[in-house]
Amino acid sequence: MDVMLRLVTLCFHTFFIGINSEDPWTYDGRANVLKPSWHLCHKGKFQSPINVVPRMLLYDPMLRRLETQIPDTISGTLINKDNDLTFYVDNNTWNLANFSGGPFMYGYTLSEIKVKIGKTQSDGSEHRVDGRAFSAEIQLICYNSDLTNSLRKAQMLPYGVAIISIFAEAHPKEGNSAFSVFVDAASRVPWQGQDTHVPSLGLKAMLPDTIYYVTYEGSFTQPACLETVTWLIFNKPIKIKATQLDKLRHLRKRNQERSGTVTQNHIRTTMPLHNRPIRTNINTQKKRGSLCTMKRDAFYQSNECPDSSPTTGVPDKSALAPCGSK
Ligand SMILES: *[C@@H]1O[C@H](CO)[C@@H](O)[C@H](O)[C@H]1NC(C)=O
Ligand SMILES: *[C@@H]1O[C@H](CO)[C@@H](O)[C@H](O)[C@H]1NC(C)=O
Repeated sequence: MDVMLRLVTLCFHTFFIGINSEDPWTYDGRANVLKPSWHLCHKGKFQSPINVVPRMLLYDPMLRRLETQIPDTISGTLINKDNDLTFYVDNNTWNLANFSGGPFMYGYTLSEIKVKIGKTQSDGSEHRVDGRAFSAEIQLICYNSDLTNSLRKAQMLPYGVAIISIFAEAHPKEGNSAFSVFVDAASRVPWQGQDTHVPSLGLKAMLPDTIYYVTYEGSFTQPACLETVTWLIFNKPIKIKATQLDKLRHLRKRNQERSGTVTQNHIRTTMPLHNRPIRTNINTQKKRGSLCTMKRDAFYQSNECPDSSPTTGVPDKSALAPCGSK
């Protein structure tokens, strides 16, 4: 098990030349071969997204709770981009949302929010759990604010970037207030390349009510696929209104009709794990010695899974069940 721990801490990162965001690319791989500086997209061994297989998770008792410092509302600019909707957070000190703790050794500051949706309601997330996709995936892209002050610089640094990923599940009635603000703003930018200022996004409402997550070392899911990203994926999806998701998808369609191209996919296919450990703070060990864990033997008895469910945020519908839940 020590070996696994070392794998986690020793995983090294490739430095690479930055992205020129104007270069065209698609998730179908047609344009991606053109640029030599995107070679990590093909050759990288720490690529994202991945399929999270629950039985492969390593419980790591050293993982802490994610600490957040989030203003009540944040402002930014939403851009209808070629391959996703991206919200660029305004760079004012009172507007900065910070994340630390969890698997992170540094403090990270939110820079962009990407909303990924798929062609259908059941296939919209980039990451998968046991082969299954969620309706959407919201990615909070953060730069290492201990070492640098922008995502552009951070993407080149080891441990430069953290992406906090939130699965979203379409629901017939229940919605999410922050996601609604997003959808309203998106309706103002129906065409590719358009942008709109969003004065007030209540980001806190977008975070699921859970302390559980999985984490691994990976990459950006778009060129140049730089492998400087620590991913944190919450175990519980938020609910978004199915009608709002349809609205977003419709928006993208109108966009594509105008540009005359075939329907583009928002999501990258899952990439090989290449023996990377996927760690979690979910204690999946109900029985001693039954599964792989980073827990040292000495801790087994004192840290047995309690009989009752944890009181905090036991999900009614979770991607991955914490200790004690059904
Ligand atoms: C986040 O950190 C920055 C400094 O890095 C600080 O100016 C800002 O106020 C912090 N945000 C919150 C909500 O505390
Ligand atoms: C954001 O603001 C800080 C402080 O004013 C500045 O140092 C930094 O370069 C800015 N970042 C970007 C990406 O403009």
